[in-house]
Amino acid sequence: MNSLLVTGAAGFIGSHLVDALLALGHRVIGVDNLSRGRKSNLAQALAHPQFALIEGDLTDAAFLRSAVFCQPVGAVWHLVANSDIAAGVADPNVDLQSTFLTTFHLLTLMREFEVKQLAFASTSAVYGVHDRALDENTGPLFPISNYGAMKLASEALISAAVESFLERAWIFRFPNVIGSRATHGIIFDFLKKLRQRTDELEVLGDGTQQKPYVHVSELVEAMLFIIQHANDKLNWFNIGPPDEGVTVNEIAQEVLRVASPETPIRFTGGNRGWVGDVPKFRYSTEKLRHLGWAPKLTSHQALAKAVEELCSS
Ligand SMILES: NC(=O)c1ccc[n+]([C@@H]2O[C@H](COP(=O)([O-])OP(=O)(O)OC[C@H]3O[C@@H](n4cnc5c(N)ncnc54)[C@H](O)[C@@H]3O)[C@@H](O)[C@H]2O)c1
Repeated sequence: MNSLLVTGAAGFIGSHLVDALLALGHRVIGVDNLSRGRKSNLAQALAHPQFALIEGDLTDAAFLRSAVFCQPVGAVWHLVANSDIAAGVADPNVDLQSTFLTTFHLLTLMREFEVKQLAFASTSAVYGVHDRALDENTGPLFPISNYGAMKLASEALISAAVESFLERAWIFRFPNVIGSRATHGIIFDFLKKLRQRTDELEVLGDGTQQKPYVHVSELVEAMLFIIQHANDKLNWFNIGPPDEGVTVNEIAQEVLRVASPETPIRFTGGNRGWVGDVPKFRYSTEKLRHLGWAPKLTSHQALAKAVEELCSS
């Protein structure tokens, strides 16, 4: 049986995806350089006979050829990327390497080894700033972060590969994803700050930034649904709740309610958290709803569940 290759397997989303694929009976190979991912995220998977983890760097094409594609791979789920947007703003090379070149090398090897199906973790950041709900045909696509730019460039490489050798590709544009095993993100950052000091919680921006949030369990469910039901050569979908999202202030309040009720908030001011941060967006998820999938959790419910999980881990 050919294996499914999951890149970024030890990361937040990758590890949940690996668990779900194993539960469906697949044989899975995970690859990760453990720069942000953790082996502990894969505790369950590492005990599974159908799972193998290969440690190494996807920017190294020789490693990919000799250590990964030497085994029969049926399809690839590509989740490796730089997940630290601010690091990519400080040094554009970070996103060039981890977000774009990893996709480039992977596609080169997939072509060489005739692996013809690719599922790709993209992002709302490819859209840039728009003042209406983002649907899959929203444009022009002018990202405002290097991260978004390198994800968009990766999408473009994938669409070209579909024209030449890939039989099928699925591009998932995630909003903000939250839940257990987070390696980064707003709830993770707030809890980290509260471990350092409880006399104040510093919140970047003025707290009005507002975005949709999806729980990682529902994100994985949606991806698996799309893979099964979307059969065009190139399939691209927003995944997320169709609501207005939650504000950064509401997230801070929820984290404090559970973790440190006495701590006051200090906003740094300004309407965005950092350079490259899209302060507000809303998703249209009509295309996915039409395909037959909708989340059960609203952004607010996903937030409450994720805060509970991260505070008790
Ligand atoms: N978490 C979110 O809110 C969110 C939102 C939109 C898109 N995404 C995308 O989803 C994917 C997974 O994100 P995540 O939140 O799980 O991030 P993550 O950082 O937890 O996972 C990425 C994994 O890739 C590994 N990695 C990074 N560079 C590597 C390299 N060069 N070679 C091998 N391994 C490498 C890291 O060690 C990590 O385990 C990413 O592509 C990310 O851009 C995430």
